[in-house]
Amino acid sequence: MASNWEEFYATHLPPTDFEDNRSLLKEFCERHNKPGERIVLVTSGGTTVPLEHNTVRFVDNFSAGMRGAASSEYFLEQGYNVIFMHRLKSLEPFTRHFNGQKLMDMLDLQENSRNVTITVKPDSVDVLAPILLNYKAAQDGGRILYVTFTTVSDYFWLLRAACECLAPLGAKALLYLAAAVSDFYVPSYEMPTHKIQSAAVPNISLQLVPKLLSPVVSLWVPHAFVVSFKLETDENILLSKARDSLNKYKHKLVIGNILQTRRQKVIFVTPESNYDVSLTREQMLGGIEIEEPIISNVVHSHTNFILGQFRSAK
Ligand code: PMT
Repeated sequence: MASNWEEFYATHLPPTDFEDNRSLLKEFCERHNKPGERIVLVTSGGTTVPLEHNTVRFVDNFSAGMRGAASSEYFLEQGYNVIFMHRLKSLEPFTRHFNGQKLMDMLDLQENSRNVTITVKPDSVDVLAPILLNYKAAQDGGRILYVTFTTVSDYFWLLRAACECLAPLGAKALLYLAAAVSDFYVPSYEMPTHKIQSAAVPNISLQLVPKLLSPVVSLWVPHAFVVSFKLETDENILLSKARDSLNKYKHKLVIGNILQTRRQKVIFVTPESNYDVSLTREQMLGGIEIEEPIISNVVHSHTNFILGQFRSAK
């Protein structure tokens, strides 16, 4: 009998740009599968669940994409090559600093009868320059790959393809699963083709989305370092839920966070222990981001994991 996740793939077609993305993922992983190099797959943003085949309405999962976008920048700083698998139009590394009108406010425009000149305002150069430098270094070095999803089904297809491409890297592959994935979906065969009419209240029956952590850890990338996230709104259950997830899927680390405090504090749950990673008020006022200490802790654990694998292979 097919498992739940196999059944999900059997009943959902891949997204139209799937083969292009698969080729990009393959090329990126092969190019960086060299001694001394590592790759992190960062998933970021929330998935949607369409309610109609010709989708007008959908159920969305909460996530701005800040965790994934900021973390990707710190992974690049630490020398990682980054696959940034994110929800279309959610926050992205580098551009996240200039969301909304911010970029426009940094620019000056001079016009005369002959031409128009656009310059960066002197007091914005110090802000823009280091971000632009890091962006260019990542782009020019071919060290970041952007792939996008919208629906939970797109996410499923891309995640499995990314894992297949990462598998040959073994322990040098890190999965950092920060996306907020839908828990429920409307099965294809129950979904109406056209827009649901509002004459009567619709009766929508939802099914549970299979958890992909199970095949990720046990089948697709069994030698990689897998980190998942757990989001809760009740502090009293966060630790036990994070520990349950680790016990169930047997991966390396769960990072727990509470919706309201996720920018100040997270809890690291490992097979051996758990500990808080947090920012002081002064650090927050000074512009330090929680992703900076999160990534340095994750990288430290990943390095120990690689060393452990290396020693046991000897
Ligand atoms: O983007 P921001 O606004 O900055 O917010 C960041 C965040 C709060 C979204 C992020 O830090 C976070 O906690 N992300 C995970 C949210 C969550 O709890 O997701 P989940 O319960 O759907 O999944 C838990 C874990 O299982 C995740 O690592 C997920 O990748 C994995 N999962 C989920 C569903 C599924 N079908 N298969 C999975 O493997």
